[in-house]
Amino acid sequence: MKRTMKLLAVGSLLAASALYGSASTAACAGCHGQHFEKKAMGKSKVVKDMSKADIVAALKGYKAGTYGGAMKGIMAGQVKALSDADIEAIATTIKGGAGVPTDKATEHAAAAAVAAAAVIDINAKACDPKRIEKEDLGNKKEVDETVLGLRKTSLFQEDNVAPPAVKNDRPAPGAAQRFERAYVNAPPMIPHSVEGLLPITKDNNQCLGCHMPDVAKSMGATPIPATHFTNYRPETVLKNGELVKEGKVVGLKGDIGNVGDIKLAKKKKLNHLYQGRFNCSQCHAPQANVDTAVANTFKPDGLVGDLKAKSNLADMMDDGVQ
Ligand code: HEC
Ligand code: HEC
Ligand code: HEC
Repeated sequence: MKRTMKLLAVGSLLAASALYGSASTAACAGCHGQHFEKKAMGKSKVVKDMSKADIVAALKGYKAGTYGGAMKGIMAGQVKALSDADIEAIATTIKGGAGVPTDKATEHAAAAAVAAAAVIDINAKACDPKRIEKEDLGNKKEVDETVLGLRKTSLFQEDNVAPPAVKNDRPAPGAAQRFERAYVNAPPMIPHSVEGLLPITKDNNQCLGCHMPDVAKSMGATPIPATHFTNYRPETVLKNGELVKEGKVVGLKGDIGNVGDIKLAKKKKLNHLYQGRFNCSQCHAPQANVDTAVANTFKPDGLVGDLKAKSNLADMMDDGVQ
């Protein structure tokens, strides 16, 4: 069965994962360095060298849209949810003051806790055998119309037919518990809030600031895998007015449209993100807290051990290929 909806286990799991407060600087480290000693993305000032008043003014300015350079959109997303008090606390921390625990040890402990934490089984509720049994109409002698269809109510009444309310209240990046993969090498769902991060545009892809392999470790984020730095598509070129795919002419003078016997494309490792992977949210979806309308009987094969929390597609890609 195809999954049409995802849901997540809530409650104690989420409360337990709230490792960072809103005034933490943990989420800044990936771009600014652990001690704000770097030029974020090669563009910002070295923030540790700014005065406290200047930091406060900059952060408030990003929030109000009155401060910043070409990449101010990125910072606007970072400070959107911060109160004036949070901003003061952050500036104090950056300038070495007390207040918020952001020393290295705390950050590393938090990142380690995230990495070691068990993943949330996204399907626990939808795949509950008791629920599946209850919703399996084939095992019932009598079936009344209130269990048919998705509205779960009499066909003659229009009360209570609204879909369940959707709550988008996932914790901030760094404070979220990851979800179990839906099947082996499924794109992992986004476990953290995406407030201020979406939509991804040509000039503003904040996902990269934390997930690129060189910064991901210091952020406690899963690095973007090797598959996303590889072009698997057949090489297609125009040669003397002919379309040539992987060396085979498929254009006007060639065997039009017959590309079936083209050998598997040679994969090309790139030293940059493959552009077909730029729009992360095309495949990785943020999650909301909703129950599925129907139970789910899908059971993935081979989703055992660490495959529940990581992929091995780059290594498995050529499995069975001669
Ligand atoms: C995804 C990368 C990224 C993250 C995460 C990030 N920043 Fe920034 N930050 C930038 C960039 C890029 C700029 C320069 C933006 C511009 O063009 O104005 C910047 C600018 C700033 C500035 C002003 C410096 C200047 O050049 O005027 C301050 C202060 C700052 N950031 C603090 C923070 C704090 C505090 C956090 C965490 C709450 C944070 N940043 C998180 C990328 C990031
Ligand atoms: C401020 C840093 C930061 C930003 C920005 C960020 N992430 Fe994350 N991401 C994390 C961290 C840290 C985790 C691990 C879970 C946690 O601690 O919240 C994570 C986890 C994930 C996962 C789950 C990976 C797994 O192994 O299950 C996905 C998918 C993901 N992020 C996608 C995205 C996408 C897409 C964007 C942009 C819309 C994005 N992230 C922006 C820090 C970030
Ligand atoms: C075309 C669909 C697609 C796009 C676009 C895409 N991904 Fe993925 N991603 C996948 C699939 C499928 C997997 C699991 C198989 C694999 O590792 O390639 C995955 C795996 C991942 C993982 C987990 C790696 C691991 O080791 O377990 C992370 C993190 C991730 N992607 C981040 C991103 C980010 C960040 C972006 C945007 C820059 C992005 N992805 C864009 C499909 C996509």
